[in-house]
Amino acid sequence: MRAIIFLPLFIILSSGNVIKQNDEKELEWWKTTIFYQIYPRSFADSDNDGIGDLNGITSKLEHVKEIGAGAIWLSPIFQSPMYDFGYDIADFYAIHDEYGTMEDFEALLAKADELGLKVILDLVPNHASNESMWFQEALKGNEKYYNYFVWEDGVIDENGNMQPPNNWRSQFRGSAWEYREEVGKYYLHQFVVGQPDLNYRNPDVVEEIKNVIRFWLNKGVAGFRVDAVNCLFEVDKDLYGGKYPDEPLSGRRDVDPGSYDYLAHIYTKDQNETYYMVYDWRDVFEEISAQDGLERVMMTEAYATIQDVVRYYGEGERKGPQMPFNFNLITDVDASSSAADMKHTVDKFLTYKPVDKVSNWVVGNHDNSRMASRYGSSLVDGINMIVLLLPGVAVTYMGEEIGMIDGEVSWEDTVDPSGCNTNDPINYYKSSRDPERTPFHWNAEKNAGFSTAEKTWLPVAQGYETLNVEVQKAAEKSHLKIYQALADLRRDDVFRLGRYDSLALNKDVFVFRRWYKGENYLVLLNMRDKDYTLDLTYFENIHGNVTVVLSSIQSPKDEGDTYPAFAVPVVGFEGLVLKHL
Ligand code: NOJ
Ligand code: MG
Repeated sequence: MRAIIFLPLFIILSSGNVIKQNDEKELEWWKTTIFYQIYPRSFADSDNDGIGDLNGITSKLEHVKEIGAGAIWLSPIFQSPMYDFGYDIADFYAIHDEYGTMEDFEALLAKADELGLKVILDLVPNHASNESMWFQEALKGNEKYYNYFVWEDGVIDENGNMQPPNNWRSQFRGSAWEYREEVGKYYLHQFVVGQPDLNYRNPDVVEEIKNVIRFWLNKGVAGFRVDAVNCLFEVDKDLYGGKYPDEPLSGRRDVDPGSYDYLAHIYTKDQNETYYMVYDWRDVFEEISAQDGLERVMMTEAYATIQDVVRYYGEGERKGPQMPFNFNLITDVDASSSAADMKHTVDKFLTYKPVDKVSNWVVGNHDNSRMASRYGSSLVDGINMIVLLLPGVAVTYMGEEIGMIDGEVSWEDTVDPSGCNTNDPINYYKSSRDPERTPFHWNAEKNAGFSTAEKTWLPVAQGYETLNVEVQKAAEKSHLKIYQALADLRRDDVFRLGRYDSLALNKDVFVFRRWYKGENYLVLLNMRDKDYTLDLTYFENIHGNVTVVLSSIQSPKDEGDTYPAFAVPVVGFEGLVLKHL
């Protein structure tokens, strides 16, 4: 009898060694770092043509180091006609001329290495540019390259006119099909007309993209962010009598019939084959890592259900990206959310994520309204506390460390195809991504110190004279200084290795706890402009006093201020990092 009782107990004790394992194991470089996203066109302009460039980035890498990030990820820097600002690649193996040369890129890598920063590039595998040699050859009838793309016959309507093969929509409005006379067929483009989709059912394409990965990893980059990964495959048309089927209506009433969201993308997104392609890419990463032992990191961009997002992590023996981007802090919560919404959103990713994988937190990028604009500037420090102190990897989009807000870009100045394609001078701004792409604010000088050009590619956002790096460096308390302190704090074991739990203490205040070996921290965010006195003893094992380690810009508290855990006063929008004594 005894043996039967003891045996399971023994197994539990000997396998519950997570903490022990963490103690002994050096975590790989990426697991607790901050990845800083740079949009190259808007970071720093070294030759003053109004467009950011590689030498600009190199000259500002110290900033990345100073704020405490360990890696940068760069939106595409490859040769491109810029119909989608670099996401339409004409030559996957070359640097875009407005951004510099291969030598400039090598210098960037060398400088990053000197500073101990890793460099991640953007892989755009779903499509090429219509100006790429591949597409041009396809148009000339070169069989090999013709098969790189997805072609389909048009259909003749009742008036005898040729129409696109089916109802598929581009993500930037209008048909996803474009006719080419040279070929007498339509090609698929899930994004702009200048971004013909690559055909992943062609092994040559699969091999080509693997070679692109090998090329840049061998050059010394530490990994890739992978663009639009869930659009890689379309349904196998042979299963539908050789014709791609129409997509059904989404049923959404809040979108107009011309928009992408009018349809449910059951044949063009999240197809099963996608995951195995991504696992194959991870094998290529491993191939390179085997040469020098440095783990190369893949992060994938997929706006999808949580189940589909976590599927990227891997399956059985197959490994996927270490970081399938977690966009829930962009898509599921904003200024209007409750503390319960916030708790639910954070817990969601942690719950669905496989227990042995690392979580990641993304709160903004070049495709979404800026964090400070979505949550309100008052919550900048609190949101950075969440992103930087939750378990796992933090991702920061350039400008979040200083609380940059969306720029106002007039219809005349709008260049993003997502805005331009609305053809709507009134409502374009709802679709345009230009506001989150305006130049970075370095200082109060002309063009915020980004460039001395007469005109920059996008206008500099208003208010840069007071909202910039220089001002925040000089201030006693600023978003930047709080960000730096958070980056320091996250190097502590309690944030690298510690456990997590959370509570919505009322409808406005979200609190999470990180603890490790008797150390307890509480991170608190009051999401409303309302004062409260809070009882933190709702957390297990929290009693006695708590002391302030860090506080948001509007907080009246100083480091070291101490309060009884059962009665902590907070002011509106206050963010706090507290240590349990
Ligand atoms: C996602 C990128 O982030 C976005 O900027 C781009 O327009 C599309 N993918 C197409 O490449
Ligand atoms: Mg330039």
